[in-house]
Amino acid sequence: MRTKVAIVGAGPAGLLLGQLLHKQGIETVIIERRSRDYVLGRIRAGVLEQGTVELLERAGIGERMHAEGLVHDGVEFCFDGDRHRFDFRKLIGRSVTVYGQTEVTRDLMQARDASGDVSIYEADHVSIHDFGTDKPKVRFVKDGVQQEIACDFIAGCDGYHGVCRASVPAGALTTFERIYPFGWLGILVDRPPVADELIYAHHERGFALCSMRSPSRSRYYVQVPSGEKVEEWSDERFWDELRRRVDEETADRLVTGPSIEKSIAPLRSFVAEPLRFGRLFLAGDAAHIVPPTGAKGLNLAASDVGALAEAMTEYFHERSSAGIDGYSARVLARVWKAERFSWWMTSILHTFPNTDTFGRRMQRTEFDYLVGSEAASRSLAENYTGLPL
Ligand code: FAD
Ligand code: DHB
Repeated sequence: MRTKVAIVGAGPAGLLLGQLLHKQGIETVIIERRSRDYVLGRIRAGVLEQGTVELLERAGIGERMHAEGLVHDGVEFCFDGDRHRFDFRKLIGRSVTVYGQTEVTRDLMQARDASGDVSIYEADHVSIHDFGTDKPKVRFVKDGVQQEIACDFIAGCDGYHGVCRASVPAGALTTFERIYPFGWLGILVDRPPVADELIYAHHERGFALCSMRSPSRSRYYVQVPSGEKVEEWSDERFWDELRRRVDEETADRLVTGPSIEKSIAPLRSFVAEPLRFGRLFLAGDAAHIVPPTGAKGLNLAASDVGALAEAMTEYFHERSSAGIDGYSARVLARVWKAERFSWWMTSILHTFPNTDTFGRRMQRTEFDYLVGSEAASRSLAENYTGLPL
């Protein structure tokens, strides 16, 4: 088999890259190790920046997102029970759209089916070869048969645990990492959200987040120590803990019900540099991880592949290498801004095991400063609703 771009991974990064290149008449093959249903069953991000919304529109999959997505003009922070709303529209004239990663993935999979481009799910033993030459290849086993795809470029969209970044020769890559001593325990429930907008809560027992997927489906998270087991968290225990971490009014208004999904995500900051090795390009979680607090993971994956699709289009349509040569530096500049914002949100909103009373006061003072300063509120609004590329 031969194609122009072999895309490893059918998460949002891989699927969106495939769709953007399809719009430009550039053929791709997607190779994914899991099944479609498994990919669709992962409950992850929920907040789309304006730039991501526009990119999904350009990719031709904006219709359902506009019909069903919820436009939010602000978020609330709740600090030890004191709530404050940051009004993005008033501060900077922008908003975000609440539309789950699962729905984005579903829309992209449907568009891919309609495009006629090939996707191979449940591919085993995926490996990449010769990306330092002009004849890169992807090999895998499908239904017990070894296969090979020759291509012009390989796009490594295979997430943090993928094979692409791991295949780069040692020494060619510099990595930066911070592992936080806690994770987020999340549940999905078919009950109306507790509020019209998201509530990010800091409490001495730990962080909590009240989010949503639709007017009838809610998503809630509580900070838990690393190593915690999801089986140790009954629904009742989760609801009790959530109620204790938010203000009284929110706790009273909470409509609980049986969880339809429950999982723990570890928190990590990670960046690999550079993002190009010959004819291999890394994008999305394969290249970088942010802790989820700033709602940036999915948005970064989208902006990475937006830039990569532009660069590859320039290469195939104009025979210019300028775009692919500049890809890594262009994308990393934005990645580091998102890393900073996500690290900062994580630092002020979570409870750290070894924080002394001074540290806690600093968190409180940071919150008071945000609330009291229009410039600080505007900076939060700008970073949350969308970072410049
Ligand atoms: P992924 O979605 O990870 O997709 C990579 C794909 O590659 C997967 O389908 C995987 O099966 C496939 N793959 C892996 N290895 C191979 C291989 N060897 N061969 C072929 N295919 C392979 N972000 C937020 O903003 N808010 C959140 O609440 C949030 N929660 C998260 C919870 C979890 C548990 C995780 C892991 C991430 C979460 N994120 C969240 C981050 C966000 O979901 C990711 O940033 C986003 O999914 C990145 O998309 P991606 O396509 O780069 O990677
Ligand atoms: C959701 C996840 C986030 O990480 C976040 O910051 C906001 C919302 C969510 O899953 O709804």
